[in-house]
Amino acid sequence: MERKDILMLKIDYQLVKRSTPVVFPKNLGFGNYFTDHIFEMDYNEQAGWHNPVIKPLSQMSMHPATMFIHYGQAIFEGLKAFYTGDDKPVIFRPERHFQRLNNSARRMCIPEIKIEDAVCALEELIAIEKEWIPRGEGEALYIRPFVFGVDPVLGVKPANNYKFLIILSPVGAYYPEGFKPIKILIQDDFVRAVRKGLGECKTPANYASSLLGTELAKKAGFTQVLWLDAVELKYIEEVGTMNIFVRFKDEIVTPQLTGGILPGVTRASVIDILKEWNMNVVERRLSLDELFEEYKKGNVLEVFGTGTAAIITVVGLLKYKDNTLMINDGESGEVALRLFDHITKLQRAAVEDTHNWLHYVPVKEEVLV
Ligand code: COI
Repeated sequence: MERKDILMLKIDYQLVKRSTPVVFPKNLGFGNYFTDHIFEMDYNEQAGWHNPVIKPLSQMSMHPATMFIHYGQAIFEGLKAFYTGDDKPVIFRPERHFQRLNNSARRMCIPEIKIEDAVCALEELIAIEKEWIPRGEGEALYIRPFVFGVDPVLGVKPANNYKFLIILSPVGAYYPEGFKPIKILIQDDFVRAVRKGLGECKTPANYASSLLGTELAKKAGFTQVLWLDAVELKYIEEVGTMNIFVRFKDEIVTPQLTGGILPGVTRASVIDILKEWNMNVVERRLSLDELFEEYKKGNVLEVFGTGTAAIITVVGLLKYKDNTLMINDGESGEVALRLFDHITKLQRAAVEDTHNWLHYVPVKEEVLV
């Protein structure tokens, strides 16, 4: 079936009909379940991006020399779809996410994808899989677009051939604590990323470099690591799974984007919302020394993280060597709670979408299976 009259892409639909309705498990967790279909598109130098198809999700067969496995030429995004109160599927800020995918693509020598094509592919996939959008509090259909080099060649150079895929996963809270405050270790034995490196790209290398430090932190009873700048090990940067905000008495600070930090879409949304609420939100460097000084004076009122997966996650405790910072008695603070409430309502159109961040998915009967 084709909808080329209104679509940017001529998608080939190879759909399967479900024999049973979707049943969600009680505790979705994060990234454990996947929907029935996948979007896939290929790239080569002659044809550019071509062969867009929506087909049943299945195992992929790959040559053992496939380039991205060896040299890491891969990028991805993470965004979410929801139902509005009147049952319309919406995607939160897809254009902004695909712009960031293209920013990552340029840094990683990967061919860019037209944003309207990527949005069109996603709209179609969500329209087909809309039954998979969960409706519980804090739940969403997590969207994972990704691109990687596929040539079966050993040798460090950009690939000539790529795949762009989108998979969907119904999710709940990212952290095992649910939406309760988490404990974070600040550590300087390892760094996540270095300025002018890949830190601002959404690419597997940044997540790989966080694994060992995070595993050690978990063994010591923490949920995540707050990474420091890789040059001086002095300034706080990000958590890897989320950006970080510190609410002092007279300002809310988030580390400025130095090139080593992922420019979070939720981070940007939170900055806009706080400004709208006439709060003094500032993007600047924030040193550990300043954080500890202000903590001693009783000026650190809240710490929270922002991310697509994390939404707004409160940090109840921070530890760095012998310094332990218990924030707001380990409880959620008022600004974090207000932000969580506002963003989760906004994502379901339960408050006015003054920025046009919601992208309504056109649901057409003819693509439904
Ligand atoms: C996201 O928030 O979308 C991410 O990719 C982070 C990851 C921890 C799931």
